[in-house]
Amino acid sequence: MMWWWLLGALSCLLLMVIITYFLTIGQRYKVFDEKCVKEPKPLVTDSRQRDERLKRGFRLDRVPPALDAVVIGSGVGGLTAAALLSKAGKRVVVLEQHDQAGGCTHTFENKGFEFDVGIHYLGQLHENSLLRVALDQITEGQLQFTQLEQHFDTVLLGQPDQRREYHIHSGKTEMAAGLKKQFPGEEKAIDEFMRLMKQAARKTPLVAILKMMPYWLVNFLIQTGLLDRISSIFRLATTNHSEMMARLTQNKDLQALSAYLFYGVPPKESSFLINALLLHHYKRGAYYPRGGASEFAFHIIPVIQQAGGAVLVRAPVQRILLNQQGKAYGVTVLKGQEEVEVLAPVVISNAGIFNTFQKFLPKHIQDQPEIRSLLGMVRHGMGSFLVFVGLDGSKEELGIPSTNFWMYKDNDLDSLMQQYSSLSRDEVLGNIPMMFITFPSAKDPTSNIRHPGKSCMTLLTMARYEWFEEWEGTKLGKRGEDYLDLKNSMAQELVDWAIKIFPQLRDKVVMVDAATPLTNCHYLGAPRGEMYGAEHNLERFTPETIARTRSQTAVKGLYLTGQDVFCNGMAGALHGGMLCASAVLNQILYIDLLALKIRLKHKWTNHKLT
Ligand SMILES: Cc1cc2nc3c(=O)[nH]c(=O)nc-3n(C[C@H](O)[C@H](O)[C@H](O)COP(=O)(O)OP(=O)(O)OC[C@H]3O[C@@H](n4cnc5c(N)ncnc54)[C@H](O)[C@@H]3O)c2cc1C
Ligand SMILES: *[C@@H]1O[C@H](CO)[C@@H](O)[C@H](O)[C@H]1NC(C)=O
Repeated sequence: MMWWWLLGALSCLLLMVIITYFLTIGQRYKVFDEKCVKEPKPLVTDSRQRDERLKRGFRLDRVPPALDAVVIGSGVGGLTAAALLSKAGKRVVVLEQHDQAGGCTHTFENKGFEFDVGIHYLGQLHENSLLRVALDQITEGQLQFTQLEQHFDTVLLGQPDQRREYHIHSGKTEMAAGLKKQFPGEEKAIDEFMRLMKQAARKTPLVAILKMMPYWLVNFLIQTGLLDRISSIFRLATTNHSEMMARLTQNKDLQALSAYLFYGVPPKESSFLINALLLHHYKRGAYYPRGGASEFAFHIIPVIQQAGGAVLVRAPVQRILLNQQGKAYGVTVLKGQEEVEVLAPVVISNAGIFNTFQKFLPKHIQDQPEIRSLLGMVRHGMGSFLVFVGLDGSKEELGIPSTNFWMYKDNDLDSLMQQYSSLSRDEVLGNIPMMFITFPSAKDPTSNIRHPGKSCMTLLTMARYEWFEEWEGTKLGKRGEDYLDLKNSMAQELVDWAIKIFPQLRDKVVMVDAATPLTNCHYLGAPRGEMYGAEHNLERFTPETIARTRSQTAVKGLYLTGQDVFCNGMAGALHGGMLCASAVLNQILYIDLLALKIRLKHKWTNHKLT
């Protein structure tokens, strides 16, 4: 026993030495500053003004000179890394393949309706939360949020004739209280689930720390078994969700409710930690960006520009350039038929782990043992299938809620998802077992001003890339009749299902459009139409993989950012950006951010007292 204590004490000491090293030696950047946060300016609705910022096309003469870094991709991960580096005085260019910036946060218009792609609701944005403080910094206080109703999600389980309806509430105590009311007799299980959820959330910083520690130290902690002694979080991370829930309760509906936020992995193959964190994300409230999802990029870009940087679209990166020593020194961008070079000593990729290593780098680099083993640890995540529905009428006229709906035809999510993803293409129609319904316009109070008299509904389910792979090489809008048939039939199946829940919308549908995994390839650069980048399976959350999927790469000068570095979601991608900027600047920005959060808290309490 003594021995363990000694080892424990030694590793703590080591950790402190490392942190002190980072704090004292080397250049320190002042990245965060409470004074940069200004009163929010009025919402910009003029599309010309918005396009000037969000759709600035790539041209060599628009690339700033003497760049410090080039970022591939303008998702939240890329923009966060770029903005943080800009705040440290670096000059950064962000190159985006699509015709507008934002990645999953971009929005598009179709027949006068505005749809968002990858932001349905967000959590942990309450006053002075770490996420809120970070977002305020990279948008200088310009991004505003609206809180949804406390009853933010409805979950429907079972076939229509025996459907059970459950409500999920946000609130420190209300979430548990709401569940207990709906599951009498399950109080103990619910309390225990909430306790584990809280524990998971509290200890998540350790996951981030694992991504910043030297590998030898991580290996030492794993091999000696010390890691498990330092915190139980790693056991939560490596326990499959179904196994953990079976220990807490035998109630199938409650088990389903503990993992209803689907992302393509059946509960038995997913990490309890990640499911607990997803639900915990909304515990303090669910939020929607005021003005729509494109507000993210719209307000981060000026911070990059102020430091002399730029965000340029229609800039598909083809390759990462390596010098003779194998160090990254820039990228090439396809401009017309030509590949043009953009040079910078630091290259950051927001395009995901697979694009970065398998598309942008030459074969002999991919074959390096270190990179091969990293790629062996991760898989392509499942694709998504989205239906965008335009509705004639305002929120009030149509009687649509801001609450989201999650539906499953069976409460055994393990067999439901396994069956669904093992279907062949011909079997999909008529057999879609799960769906998510949301009304973006009902969540945004400015939608009435921006698109009066119009509402929109988005439907979402998971879909396998293999179902659409046949049309891989085809061009958007020219994929042929068979493709359209499959796409439209799947869309119709989901719309019919939604109309059963909201019969008042039957005659109000004025447009329907759908997006398959191939659409994700086109607009999001997702190589296999992934909804959330690399698969969030159990293997991804083993300590080894957590440590290896970090921002630094085996290629000198090349860093990763975004959801593949930390986890999915806007918040996950932002943390990917925090880790990335920390790696590039060689400074743990979390320490600076925490310090700012504490300063703000004092200011806030003093303000309230006086
Ligand atoms: C349907 C859907 C619903 C979602 N709902 C929510 C939600 O409600 N709440 C939430 O928090 N999260 C949600 N998410 C997840 C969240 O949007 C993402 O996890 C997050 O935004 C990912 O950010 P990122 O920066 O890592 O990647 P992305 O946003 O995917 O950005 C990557 C960027 O890289 C670009 N790129 C790729 N290849 C190249 C290249 N060769 N050259 C140049 N650029 C390139 C892409 O075009 C893209 O813009 C949802 C996602 C989807 C798909
Ligand atoms: C989940 O964990 C239990 C207990 O460790 C194990 O028996 C089961 O096989 C696991 N399931 C999967 C799919 O890994």
